[in-house]
Amino acid sequence: MLSRFGRATARLPTHFRMFATQVPTEAVADSTIYGKGNVLMERRDGGVGLVTLNRPKQLNALCYDLFEDLHSALSELDQDPSISAIVLTGSEKAFAAGADIKEMKDREFPDTYMRDMLTWWDQLTTLKTPLIGAVNGFALGGGSELAMMCDILLAGERAKFGQPEVNLGTIPGMGGTQRLTRAIGKSRAMEMILTGDFMDAHEAAQRGLVSRVVAPDLLVEEALKVGRKIAQKSQPSISMAKECVNFSMEGSLANGLLFERRVFQATFGTKDQTEGMTAFAEKRKPTWTQN
Ligand code: CAA
Repeated sequence: MLSRFGRATARLPTHFRMFATQVPTEAVADSTIYGKGNVLMERRDGGVGLVTLNRPKQLNALCYDLFEDLHSALSELDQDPSISAIVLTGSEKAFAAGADIKEMKDREFPDTYMRDMLTWWDQLTTLKTPLIGAVNGFALGGGSELAMMCDILLAGERAKFGQPEVNLGTIPGMGGTQRLTRAIGKSRAMEMILTGDFMDAHEAAQRGLVSRVVAPDLLVEEALKVGRKIAQKSQPSISMAKECVNFSMEGSLANGLLFERRVFQATFGTKDQTEGMTAFAEKRKPTWTQN
């Protein structure tokens, strides 16, 4: 299946299926309940998708079935030409309290290694569509790491970020040691990861982990508003800009600058670049053709 930009639909590698306990069910058409029910999915006005993690009793602990539902909901929205931004949220109490400890507590090293446990989460960072995380409550362990996979993060006033894996005799495994360090600097990231202490929403904003703090009940609406603003732009340039910013977090500065310059030059192969610059010179609003 081809996406709106002609990309092949992401397929789950074999080891996903080996790890799953059940064959995934198809999404329920026209319903907000998705797949096995671990996420809710909606198409909101203004070209924005809304995905809500839906294991509230377990504080949205990230079990494998939840990953499958989340991956397929995000992939479906990513491939929908009417959707230009996606908001990912949880409940008021918890965005997600981490990987599901009860599901993984009896695993042993050879098995985790051979299945490359947790590697599948990286798939969520390959979306072309901007992902806006709206974090209320606990974002701990894998929950904090999932939040940091988002392109933009907004936090509710009572949000709490943490990497408490050391309290379980393990370490972050979905990017926490890398992304948290890049986001807030080595010393504070090291302190959080080695003590397991949490960071509140205001400190997260002050340190640049999140864009800003919002009242909890207005958080999702604020994130949708950001999504609607993004949806009004030329989508190829949005996806290119997103890719370049994310590259800055993952490569060296020299490689990042080269990558950015090449993608900047590539925008001159699009009609939207010509239209955008011409409209500016002619003092009118651009008409995007998404080409
Ligand atoms: N995995 C599985 N179940 C979890 C869970 C998790 N990560 N977090 C919470 N739950 C469950 C609890 O077991 C409890 O279930 P029961 O009602 O069946 O007992 C339910 O969710 C509610 O949790 P609490 O009663 O503990 O709620 P609380 O308000 O007293 O405490 C909390 C909230 C401080 C977040 C506490 O639940 C907690 O410490 N959770 C674990 C946080 C954690 O250690 N996360 C890291 C996981 S490891 C990881 O993520 C590795 C990685 O990098 C990928």
